[in-house]
Amino acid sequence: MAAPLHTAWFNGSFMPLSEVRISPLDRAFLFGDAVYEVIPVYAGQAFLLDAHLDRLERSLQELGIRNPHRRTEWIDIISGLIEQNGGGNLSVYLQLSRGADNRRDHAFPPESVPPTVFGMASTMAEPHPDQLGLRAITLADQRWARCDIKSTALLANLLARQAAREAGAGEAILLRDGYLSEGSASSVIIVEHGVLVRRPDGPEVLPGTTTAAIFSAATGIGLSCRDEMISEQRLRQADEIWVAAATRGITPVLELDGRKIGDGRPGPVWRQVAAAFEALKPHGTTH
Ligand SMILES: Cc1ncc(COP(=O)(O)O)c(C=O)c1O
Repeated sequence: MAAPLHTAWFNGSFMPLSEVRISPLDRAFLFGDAVYEVIPVYAGQAFLLDAHLDRLERSLQELGIRNPHRRTEWIDIISGLIEQNGGGNLSVYLQLSRGADNRRDHAFPPESVPPTVFGMASTMAEPHPDQLGLRAITLADQRWARCDIKSTALLANLLARQAAREAGAGEAILLRDGYLSEGSASSVIIVEHGVLVRRPDGPEVLPGTTTAAIFSAATGIGLSCRDEMISEQRLRQADEIWVAAATRGITPVLELDGRKIGDGRPGPVWRQVAAAFEALKPHGTTH
């Protein structure tokens, strides 16, 4: 698993992670009233940074949490976390809550309460033994109706991931009203007759930065990509199923609810697209 590194960002300064102190009245702690981003870093360089910052700004705007930093300041905070934690391959976690008021009230605190800003870097998780593929289960999507906002209020996602773990699977793929939504912590792409298909963006799913990059890598090597609703039946009959997430890249699903996908091995389209996606990542050993 990813291990957090020494230096964190907290409300305006870099400091040792072990010295960060957050009030129990912070609304992230009391209500999950916060948003977050996870930005992958390769060879000391943030990958798909604009897409992550676009999404962070949008999540804040949708929830009416004040954004205390301009884009250039976010970039400096992220660069500082990378440099001060030794560069290389990392994941940078950013979280902003609506701050700590002096009382617990569902309604928003006064404007004078500043957001709480926290950032840390972790080593990028070691390649999982299942890196070349995982088993997944399907579950009913029990989440709220604004899954396009990257909120820290993730209880239904946690329950789904835990159910997957208890079933010996690496991911839970969520279904709502007979259609695929996404994974508990990933986007889902299916391949049908060589064509990549994902669910269109909308309030039921997080717009995935990795999926967007995968679609442009796939288009770049001449494959067709579509945004379409995917019925449960279509999901189960797909030639290939992949899950995609910033810290996980693209992982083929080899088995769904105990039934093999294709021949139960990573598919040929995955091999092609994974190579094209890999080529987009920063390489080298510099910070
Ligand atoms: C629910 C959910 N959907 C999709 C994704 C994939 O998003 P991204 O590719 O930007 O990491 C994640 C990532 O963690 C997620 O938690």
